[in-house]
Amino acid sequence: MGMSERSRSLPRRSCLSVPGSSERFLQKGPTIEADMTFLDLEDSVAPLEKIEARAKVVDAIKNLDWGDRVLCVRVNAWDTKWTYGDVIDVVGNAGDRLDEIMLPKVQSAAEVVALDLLLTQVEANAGLPIGHIGIEAQIETTRGLINVEEICAASPRLETIIFGPADFAASMEMPVLTGGVQIPEYPGDHFHYVFSKILMAGRANGLQVIDGPFLKIREPELFRDYCRRTQVLGYDGKWALHPDQVTILNELFSPTQEQFDRAHAILDAYKEATEGERKGAVMFGDEMIDEASRKMALKFIARGERAGFVRSAG
Ligand code: GLV
Ligand code: MG
Repeated sequence: MGMSERSRSLPRRSCLSVPGSSERFLQKGPTIEADMTFLDLEDSVAPLEKIEARAKVVDAIKNLDWGDRVLCVRVNAWDTKWTYGDVIDVVGNAGDRLDEIMLPKVQSAAEVVALDLLLTQVEANAGLPIGHIGIEAQIETTRGLINVEEICAASPRLETIIFGPADFAASMEMPVLTGGVQIPEYPGDHFHYVFSKILMAGRANGLQVIDGPFLKIREPELFRDYCRRTQVLGYDGKWALHPDQVTILNELFSPTQEQFDRAHAILDAYKEATEGERKGAVMFGDEMIDEASRKMALKFIARGERAGFVRSAG
């Protein structure tokens, strides 16, 4: 039995952020159809609310019906005074239903290891299976991006690596005032290198790879357009700050039925050619397919199955 088995392979097309200090938003959380929901103790909670928010989050995890979605809590970063208390309180009192802890502003592999060790003790004291809680790590500082490869390999508890564009822009000292949106003055995509670097580090370690928030929540069309950047590269999902963003993400980060069926047809054609006819490459319609096509099709099918797709009849 591996680490944090339940949530590891669940979809995360939409990852909804819910401020942990707001009873109103916590109550509303389960009614929004996000694949993953995280209750936040970090940047959406004011310093004076940090301690009280822990009990509200524990209460929400235990007493609301979150269905079978991935349920996560974002704790405060290791450079604050709250991290260990957040973990002990939340995992110690509501660890049963909780799938994972999100660690923000991860700068080094050691920060992930520290959380892993702390989780092991908290799980032991709470009577939870060791390895029950997974880790999501946010890359949102320059130091974190430099170390992303070691960070992604730091613990078997890691399930996802997440890009945090707002903090990252601040850490880079970019002259922008809105997080996660396009910069029209830049000829190209100012985050292309960052997106690709995080994606490669995550995939090399078998993690899901998630894009962060888009802060113009009243601009659904701009959001839809912007999401395509990471979706096309192969990211598994993206954050949502509003229910309308969830709807768009669930659609955008799923394959179409047609693509899903086509991936199955490629597998069939390839199997027929390699097993029946001893060919390595074969025509599929007017395209040539080979072993690499089989691998691409398998990834497509896995993603589609995770999103609940079934092959069409005929
Ligand atoms: C998310 O935490 C971000 O900083 O973009
Ligand atoms: Mg952040």
